[in-house]
Amino acid sequence: MSPAIPSGPSTDSLPGYVRACALTDVPDEAVVGVDVEGTAVAVARTGGRVHAVADSCTHEQVPLSEGEVYDGMLECWLHGACFRLSTGEALELPATTALTVYETAVVDGDVYVRLDPGAST
Ligand code: FES
Repeated sequence: MSPAIPSGPSTDSLPGYVRACALTDVPDEAVVGVDVEGTAVAVARTGGRVHAVADSCTHEQVPLSEGEVYDGMLECWLHGACFRLSTGEALELPATTALTVYETAVVDGDVYVRLDPGAST
């Protein structure tokens, strides 16, 4: 299991967002696991875009941050389920349930994640 990257405090310029990691921590077509205020988040980059989803496969709850990223999808390393990173949709069996997707922002070389869509602080 790869070590999670520690996250930092939220920033005043992005209410509700929490710094997850540096953009350079996430190479294109790759995924890393980040502990964001106690929530396991898989931060992935594909086609130059950054996505954040729950770091747990909806099939058997293994970390998706150990999976593979390609063509906008994240593939689970254990049984091969594929999820669309932009929507969380399960595209390939054996997973049938979508992943939780978090909003992301990239500011000054850092990736921020919004865990709670209704958060305003
Ligand atoms: S645990 Fe991910 S596909 Fe089975």
